[in-house]
Amino acid sequence: MQHTILTADRPTGKLHIGHYIGSLKNRVRLQNSGEYRTFIMIADMQALTDNARNPEKIQNSLIEVALDYLAVGIDPSKSTIFVQSQIPALNELTMYYLDLVSLARLKRNPTVKSEIQQKGFGESVPAGFLAYPISQAADITAFKADTVPVGDDQEPMLEQTREIVRSFNTTYQKDVLVEPAGLFPPKGQGRLPGLDGNAKMSKSLNNAIYLSDSADELHQKVMKMYTDPKHIHVEDPGQIEGNIVFDYLDVFATDQKQVAALKTQYRHGGLGDVKVKCYLEEVLNATLAPIRQRRGEYAKDLGTVYQILKTGSQKANEVAAQTLSEVRAAIGVNYFDKH
Ligand code: TRP
Repeated sequence: MQHTILTADRPTGKLHIGHYIGSLKNRVRLQNSGEYRTFIMIADMQALTDNARNPEKIQNSLIEVALDYLAVGIDPSKSTIFVQSQIPALNELTMYYLDLVSLARLKRNPTVKSEIQQKGFGESVPAGFLAYPISQAADITAFKADTVPVGDDQEPMLEQTREIVRSFNTTYQKDVLVEPAGLFPPKGQGRLPGLDGNAKMSKSLNNAIYLSDSADELHQKVMKMYTDPKHIHVEDPGQIEGNIVFDYLDVFATDQKQVAALKTQYRHGGLGDVKVKCYLEEVLNATLAPIRQRRGEYAKDLGTVYQILKTGSQKANEVAAQTLSEVRAAIGVNYFDKH
């Protein structure tokens, strides 16, 4: 049987090169392998669980994320790109699954727990936010996805989904739902550090390079990158460890021999930071220039982009509705089919 992929992003901002390395690049590869039926979802309802009073942010980010997808090479003729809120079956599935999960179990989810802490919600956490792993189980199972390419932080969501699948199939004695497995980035490649040296690249830390950044913005950001603070004069020996510029070169440079030579020279002394940064800028541009170009073209034609999302949502709707009807039949709430 052909494998099915479902993956998603919350539209709370534009995507950055950390997303590209951690996930987008991999999705394009999987899409092009031809081994998967691929569904890529913009999780606007999940984004609303902590932005209910700021829907404009979600509306604006929705189109930015769609542009980022198309720009990196997600191809609507190979992958179904769709919008979560346009798939009513997901909500109904969520309602049935809510009854299979205890409040205590929800509160134990480590990812949600740390998010609640970060956002300072305490006991005022929106119920929808606490329950979003259940809605995420609906996202995954509606498409009978067996493969979910995500970052390491999503493992608890997959565990929760598998529990729901097992619980559903046992309770209603029908193998309707499929247990998903996560597909994680290779060790050490999951997370790109921020420009300031912070372990995480993120919008809130203001330390990200966006896929939508212009060549000029890229230049400014690379020149401001954190390096070795003790490397003051060109002739001083420099340190590679914790030097973000070299971390990025490890990830993005195709000529790793050249990177190794630069590292040797940097350690030894006599190689200035600006020189290494100019090389990094060149390397990043090799990846980002075609993305920037494609993004610019789609941005001129948003009508087409919305049409892609609409067509994708219609297609996704059919698949999700089919699963929902099997779920209804398994629970026995399909009264009028029988009478
Ligand atoms: N929680 C995911 C994130 O924050 C987004 C998401 C929503 C998702 N539904 C999903 C990921 C289903 C994988 C599968 O990035």
